[in-house]
Amino acid sequence: MCGLIGALSRRNVAPLLLDGLKRLEYRGYDSAGLACIDGAGISVHRRVGKVAELERLLQRRMPDSAIGIGHTRWATHGEPEERNAHPQVSRDTIAVVHNGIIENYEGLRKMLEVMGYAFSSDTDTEVVAHLVHYHYAGLSDLFAAVRTAVNQLVGAYAIAVMAADRPDCLVVARQGNPLAVGIGDGEQFVASDAVALLPFTDRFVFLEDGDVACLAADGLSVLDADGQAVERPLQQLDVAGAGADKGPYRHYMLKEIHEQPDALADTIRGCVEHGMLLPAALGFTDRELLQRVQAVHIVACGTSHHAGEVARYWLESVARLPCSVDLASEYRYRDPVVPPGCLFVTLSQSGETADTLAALRYAAKAGYLGTLAICNCPASSLVRESAMHLLTRAGPEIGVASTKAFTTQLLSVLLLTLLLAHRHRHDAQAGRSQLEQLRQVSARVEDVLNLSRRIEALAVPLVNHASALFLGRGPLYPIAREGALKLKEISYIHAEAYASGELKHGPLALVDDQMPVIALAPSNLLLDKQRSNLREVQARKGQLFVFSDRDSGIEAGPGVRLVEMPKVDALSAPIVYAVALQLLAYHAAVLRGSDVDKPRNLAKSVTVE
Ligand code: M6R
Repeated sequence: MCGLIGALSRRNVAPLLLDGLKRLEYRGYDSAGLACIDGAGISVHRRVGKVAELERLLQRRMPDSAIGIGHTRWATHGEPEERNAHPQVSRDTIAVVHNGIIENYEGLRKMLEVMGYAFSSDTDTEVVAHLVHYHYAGLSDLFAAVRTAVNQLVGAYAIAVMAADRPDCLVVARQGNPLAVGIGDGEQFVASDAVALLPFTDRFVFLEDGDVACLAADGLSVLDADGQAVERPLQQLDVAGAGADKGPYRHYMLKEIHEQPDALADTIRGCVEHGMLLPAALGFTDRELLQRVQAVHIVACGTSHHAGEVARYWLESVARLPCSVDLASEYRYRDPVVPPGCLFVTLSQSGETADTLAALRYAAKAGYLGTLAICNCPASSLVRESAMHLLTRAGPEIGVASTKAFTTQLLSVLLLTLLLAHRHRHDAQAGRSQLEQLRQVSARVEDVLNLSRRIEALAVPLVNHASALFLGRGPLYPIAREGALKLKEISYIHAEAYASGELKHGPLALVDDQMPVIALAPSNLLLDKQRSNLREVQARKGQLFVFSDRDSGIEAGPGVRLVEMPKVDALSAPIVYAVALQLLAYHAAVLRGSDVDKPRNLAKSVTVE
């Protein structure tokens, strides 16, 4: 969702900005642009559509400039049109790129119009460009002008600003949206995601909310929200494998699905030593706090929320801790009650999801025992702002549809559950046997990957339908919901998931011979109940697509298509069955010809509320 980049160097930055924009494509966008300063002043280049369109435009005449800013825009204010793409420019003097939403832009726009500024776009960003222009005209100091302008803004933003007569400095500011400054050799960069800058540097300064910074040849100056000069720590990022290509795979999503056995094994390796869980690796550097946890409250969005819903089953049944799970966008508006000794847990792949961050900020003041972020991005705002963190070890995930980040989240919350369940020493042996079982999970996921062709065959009849139902029970109910979300996201087939027991309370009305019903039915304590629900579907001639193991006794037949899954223990089942549904969604999307890695209207990192 919107990507921003800027560069100041001795070499020509235009190709670098273009390269960076390509690395930001995974975030989702509908137009792209860049601006540079050359002998003739600010030159702006914008295109609706992919970065490739912008590249084609630039190939005709590549700018030659030592300073520039670029952007991929995901439309919020105004349609995806060239005039609404960024950079936005004020009177040929100030160019701005912006992520986020300026909530008071309408009032500012009216004020600026009265002052004589003419608007050429529908964006909130153009307001920022004119506002900076106005203050720059009065102050003749770009750094001061941006500081004064951002003081008038309400909302969330990360901006990069340059002035036609200052080709030696780039001014940036953040409030609620991430900004990473990359420090190179005699050159400086800025981006909304460090991934965009990895070819140029591995040294980063992450700005904090309220910071305004000036990048110049002689160094970086940062002022905090109070206008005080501050030094933000320089961090070296481990970039091994980051931004790697698709290898032999047709899509990033398929590559990431196949990376799961290794990612899961890495997750266990990172949290277990000599058969024992490592509390510090699971976030508990404070062992005393671990003993005080009496309840858990999980907050997340989308796929990460589904991981939280599975976690609730585990935390209650295995660790015997009361657990509630909320959508981040709902949580802080419902005035939640905080039980005594309650740990607040966020789950997020990116660590930059605006709703989840807002929930964390609310929770930090709400009287929880502590805040724990379970996150895949070590340098993210969520990790930096939480008291404790547990890093999932999925590695960079590029496909918009989350896959390996989800299964490593599941495994991480499962390990956390075992830690909480066995935190008293006399239980240690019980924990060991469960951990031993979990070591098999990578091998079982590998078995599912080997079923890819069979699952592809199942996707063939599915893709002709407009709608599908997913059914599951217990911890496999949230997995059914995740399967439905995956199918919706990338194949655009409408899908809904239900706890199987709910079928007869409403959705059964939808079932006829045209309705595919995808059911998760491993042999477990709930199998008999699940089989009864499947019979209810069969009695209405619904088309069953069943994922089950040999011990269940479920057989293929008229109206029943079957994928025989490996036999797995109850704790591993959600992880293993999730992978099968990822493959189903993937194959359905490929068969329908959709843009698997960048589905329409979606963004990898959702940085607006
Ligand atoms: O980065 P996060 O895990 O916080 O993102 C939350 C959701 O936006 C994300 O899981 C989304 O639902 C994915 N597109 C799912 O595939």
